Amino acid sequence: MTERGVHLGKVQETLLIPLYGRAVENRKPQPALRDPRAEDIVASIDYDFARFDNLPSLIGTVLRTSLFDRWVADFLTSHPTGSVVEIGVGLNTRHERLDNGQAHWFDLDLPDVIDLRRTFFTDSPRRTMIAASVTDEAWTDAVKSPGPYFFSAEAVLPFLSEAQVRHVVDLIAGRFPGSLLALDTAGPGIIDTQDQHDALSKVEARMQWTCADPAELTMWRPGARILASQRLSALPPRMYDELPAAYREMLAGLAEQRLPQVEEYRLNLVQLP
Ligand SMILES: C[S@@+](CC[C@H](N)C(=O)[O-])C[C@H]1O[C@@H](n2cnc3c(N)ncnc32)[C@H](O)[C@@H]1O
Repeated sequence: MTERGVHLGKVQETLLIPLYGRAVENRKPQPALRDPRAEDIVASIDYDFARFDNLPSLIGTVLRTSLFDRWVADFLTSHPTGSVVEIGVGLNTRHERLDNGQAHWFDLDLPDVIDLRRTFFTDSPRRTMIAASVTDEAWTDAVKSPGPYFFSAEAVLPFLSEAQVRHVVDLIAGRFPGSLLALDTAGPGIIDTQDQHDALSKVEARMQWTCADPAELTMWRPGARILASQRLSALPPRMYDELPAAYREMLAGLAEQRLPQVEEYRLNLVQLP
């Protein structure tokens, strides 16, 4: 894709959806999440973001990031000097939101994304960008900091094939045993209808990995445990209770409708063996 100043591959372009979601959220008087940096970045990227205006998925991306933030924050509370590895980081700003001054952070994405990311962020002794595919084992050598490790793969793995996802899970479990892995999964009701998806229909990339039940991961890696598997319509009470009232009402309505696009989308926290 080449569009008004941003030169990204098809799957890479999808990073602009959650980025815009956080920027729009930041403008609201009562947001679910504050991200002034995302607003600044959107203002400086020449891209037709208006195509995503008013899409329900934008709120979904914000709630997803917010839950992943909570999981990472919990990890850092228990392990303040641990390491956070953002797989397919895009232009996410989790480090800006959560860094505790002690943890190590690794921001991994494909080379063209890291080139773009480097125009907004810089490496530091505790923060390292890695330009690589997550499917290429070589990136694991760049993660040199002490454990324990939290791997955050937010809206990334569904874009890979199932074989690639299994390879990535094996890579992480093999090289970083005992790690936590946060990932989202999409069931057949989502994968089979993605051409009609409100946001994906506005870009060319499509998801490949259909995961009807996140428990599959525990069969791939015996000893792996699913610590949490949340639907957006049934968020953990401590997060739900802190959301603005309008969001709580919207989510309660969603829970009643039981739409496959909502019910089959899961945010999962996995303890690897
Ligand atoms: C929907 S975006 C999510 C970005 C970010 N995680 C967020 O939530 O803002 C998907 C991201 O996955 C990245 N990605 C896709 N395939 C990848 C691969 N094989 N290796 C590394 N990153 C990949 C894309 O470049 C893109 O940045």
